Amino acid sequence: NMFALLLFVEMPDLSLVLPARQPPTITKQSLQEHIVDPKETMVMECEAKGNPHPIFSWRRNGKYFNVARDSQVSMRRRSGTLDIYAKHNPEQYEAEYQCIASNQYGSAYTHKIRLRLYRPPVWPREILEPVVISAGLPLVLPCDAPPGPPKPETYWMSSSFPTMQAVRQDRRVSMGVNGDLYFSNVLVNDSTTDYCCSARFPYKNMIQQKMPVVVKVLTSESLNTRFKFSPESLQAARTVAEAAPTWLSPKGSSSSILVLQGEELLLECIAGGMPTPRITWTKDGEDLPVTSRMKVKNFNKMIQIPKASFEDAGEYVCTATNKIGYIEHTITVRVRAAPFWLERPTNLILAPEENGQLVCRSDGAPRPTISWSINGEPIETSTPQPNRQVSGETITFRSVSTENTAVYQCNASNEHGYLLANAFVNVLRKFCYLENIQLFFKVSTKP
Ligand SMILES: *[C@@H]1O[C@H](CO)[C@@H](O)[C@H](O)[C@H]1NC(C)=O
Ligand SMILES: *[C@@H]1O[C@H](CO)[C@@H](O)[C@H](O)[C@H]1NC(C)=O
Repeated sequence: NMFALLLFVEMPDLSLVLPARQPPTITKQSLQEHIVDPKETMVMECEAKGNPHPIFSWRRNGKYFNVARDSQVSMRRRSGTLDIYAKHNPEQYEAEYQCIASNQYGSAYTHKIRLRLYRPPVWPREILEPVVISAGLPLVLPCDAPPGPPKPETYWMSSSFPTMQAVRQDRRVSMGVNGDLYFSNVLVNDSTTDYCCSARFPYKNMIQQKMPVVVKVLTSESLNTRFKFSPESLQAARTVAEAAPTWLSPKGSSSSILVLQGEELLLECIAGGMPTPRITWTKDGEDLPVTSRMKVKNFNKMIQIPKASFEDAGEYVCTATNKIGYIEHTITVRVRAAPFWLERPTNLILAPEENGQLVCRSDGAPRPTISWSINGEPIETSTPQPNRQVSGETITFRSVSTENTAVYQCNASNEHGYLLANAFVNVLRKFCYLENIQLFFKVSTKP
């Protein structure tokens, strides 16, 4: 029987061995940018596994955060997750946090979690003076939506009592990327309605409205009867029949945009003029190649590229033309990239005297720099180990011993962000190694 047992043992894959002892691994963490509502319990997640089960601690703005001494904060059992119920000055919690999960075999770190309070959007309750303007002139109605976070979605309504409707967008009138409403030129029938910018905040699906503004368009007829005007406005009331294009957005003859790979790129050119100018685009001196990744919107006034890529970099020229003349504006687009993974380091479970490697490969623009830490301490200042060699994106271990057991962090960063990965090296003690393998024996004895 003993003989059969030895013969039919299937050797388990070492990576399937669940060691009795294991350094911590982060299993859950809040996002790097974490927006919370201070009126509710603010939750910051941090969970980890390991054996023994990790204990958790937090840093706030780089310093130890004594959770136990803050009566508004509590940590969940067997987890590092914090519940913050801030009855008093919630602003004090707006900070950068980092959670650390430790046991005697090492410490794993979350990325830094920037906690930001959701601010209910409010527009000042100002009373807006009516806008009095001559027919034919360009007009910009500012929206100035509260900035968030998070960024709201804006739109314009107009009302002629009692109905309220979305402002019709066309070649002449449209909303810009910043939420302002642009009129290339105003017409009589833009008059005597209230214009009102609304903002929808995705976080709570809340809608807020700015105080409405009344637009009065002056024409030669309106001067006689309908309103009483000051002498200044009478002066201004010469109707503009024709006018050469001028830039309303962006202003001047050139501007530049820096966009991160994968983020939305919006190019916008809005001109004033009478008749309404026509907008055309070129890129690097040629007609803009309209690809499937790109949408031409807003009556040619906007180019939307939902996910920018490096090929979108270049010089875009928009031209506004009407029968009086034309103007050009050059937008220089540069594309950069926050770090992204090519290869993340994976946990290593090694028997004594084995060799191993942790690899942390990433790319980005500019190229990310890699820095390594051991249990959260920069590798440069940690106790040197002759069998451990760091070269850029790789740590090589030769003939490991239990001393190499630790959690290693790799931080790939450039000016646009960073990625943090934890990977442990778990060197099994000899007898423990056997003990674990035995757990996974599939024993079959032939009859
Ligand atoms: C990663 O490195 C960058 C650049 O030095 C730093 O700003 C960031 O805080 C680091 N992240 C962590 C989690 O330590
Ligand atoms: C306003 O007048 C212009 C031309 O006079 C016309 O094209 C447009 O449809 C009118 N708009 C409304 C909302 O009546």
